[in-house]
Amino acid sequence: MEYTDTAFRTVAWSGCAPRLLTDSDAPEYRPVLDTDQLLREIEASGLVGRGGAAFPLGVKLRAVRDNGRSGGLAAKGAVVVANGEEGEPASVKDRWLLRNRPHLVLDGLRLAAAIVGAQRAYVYVSDRDSARSVEGALGDLDPDILGVAVELRTVEPGYVAGEETAAVRAIDGGPAKPTDKPPRPFEAGVGGRPTLVSNVETLANVPYVQRRGAAAFRSQGTVHSPGTFLATITGANRAPVLYELPHGLPFTELLSLHGVSSEQVRGALMGGYFAGFLNRRVLDTTLDHETMRGLGSGLGCGAITVITDECPVAVAASVLAYFDRENAGQCGSCFNGTAAMAAVAAALRDFVATQEDLGRLRRWSVVLRGRGACATLDAATNVAATLLDQFPDEVDRHLGGTCVDCTRGAFRADRPYQAVS
Ligand SMILES: Cc1cc2nc3c(=O)[nH]c(=O)nc-3n(C[C@H](O)[C@H](O)[C@H](O)COP(=O)(O)O)c2cc1C
Ligand code: SF4
Repeated sequence: MEYTDTAFRTVAWSGCAPRLLTDSDAPEYRPVLDTDQLLREIEASGLVGRGGAAFPLGVKLRAVRDNGRSGGLAAKGAVVVANGEEGEPASVKDRWLLRNRPHLVLDGLRLAAAIVGAQRAYVYVSDRDSARSVEGALGDLDPDILGVAVELRTVEPGYVAGEETAAVRAIDGGPAKPTDKPPRPFEAGVGGRPTLVSNVETLANVPYVQRRGAAAFRSQGTVHSPGTFLATITGANRAPVLYELPHGLPFTELLSLHGVSSEQVRGALMGGYFAGFLNRRVLDTTLDHETMRGLGSGLGCGAITVITDECPVAVAASVLAYFDRENAGQCGSCFNGTAAMAAVAAALRDFVATQEDLGRLRRWSVVLRGRGACATLDAATNVAATLLDQFPDEVDRHLGGTCVDCTRGAFRADRPYQAVS
């Protein structure tokens, strides 16, 4: 099945019943008769977050609901945030959903609000077209149908702006930059209240669970990654395509759908810019969180860049330069660490790095992990570590000045490596 959008081509794998790309299952804003029952259904569905960390939605909903019922400021009620900021440069799925299925997201948002007993809800975005679409959808609705006051918050785009504490801080009137944890938003978020921050794709799955139940949701996907997911596929000299795929689909099936032969594939950049590289081992994988974690990689937000004729060293240099530019400049280890790793990667790409430089890059990729207020430095260390581990021959060719792709002077990855605007 193929649908045309003004900006992106979208395709649902023929072997799955798409839940997000079609509006055959138009949201109905069905009344919630029993919020406890709906929460149990969501827990049973195994729905995990689509914003990157794959955390179970049911666990987060229950924690926010329980914190909202406890005393103190929390007693004033919980808050829910639909996170559609999509700072990840290789991903288009959240924009696509908000521009094309705003009611699906709003239906999921009001169901989450009903479960946690929230009186305030926010849709948090940076894309202007998404904002217009959500405004239009809110204008179509009788506020009583939502049962919660929903506000739209628009910020300037940025890699860190979609991180959950950055979203909370921006909604509270501050800069869209992360804060130290704890507390996490589920403990104390917007206005100090327990806050559910959920990705818009995660929320867009909730109306389906309400209508069809956990078993139907689990009828596609794997035990630990149930359901379908939206995958933004870039690279391989093809225009980006947004797919809806069942979790567990072999990577090679995705390649055939995308029109790329396995022989051409050198590897892939996984989870957007977050999870780093896999070399040709990616051809033996299936697209689910457990398989990717088992390889030390990640499906993250479902964005995958297929690498064919681009040199992974040049790609890594561009991605690390991106983190150097895009980090929030708040934490010394991240501000200095991303700059230092980007400098070594650029030197390696340009054939001027030494063995000592590489030794430093390897050490930083280990010791800088887990530092900083948010996981940006983890993303950068993932890219550095997996370049060294997954592509040792390419790295050696750069030390020796013999990389054929790069001696041609065509650093095609260095544009910067922003596949999607
Ligand atoms: C640097 C950074 C950037 C992030 N950007 C986004 C984003 O743009 N959109 C998003 O939904 N989650 C983003 N996340 C994850 C959020 O912090 C949060 O985990 C997520 O919104 C929770 O939703 P989920 O449980 O539905 O996945 C980011 C995390 C980090 C560390
Ligand atoms: S870790 Fe980096 S990106 Fe995250 S808040 Fe600190 S400086 Fe900003």
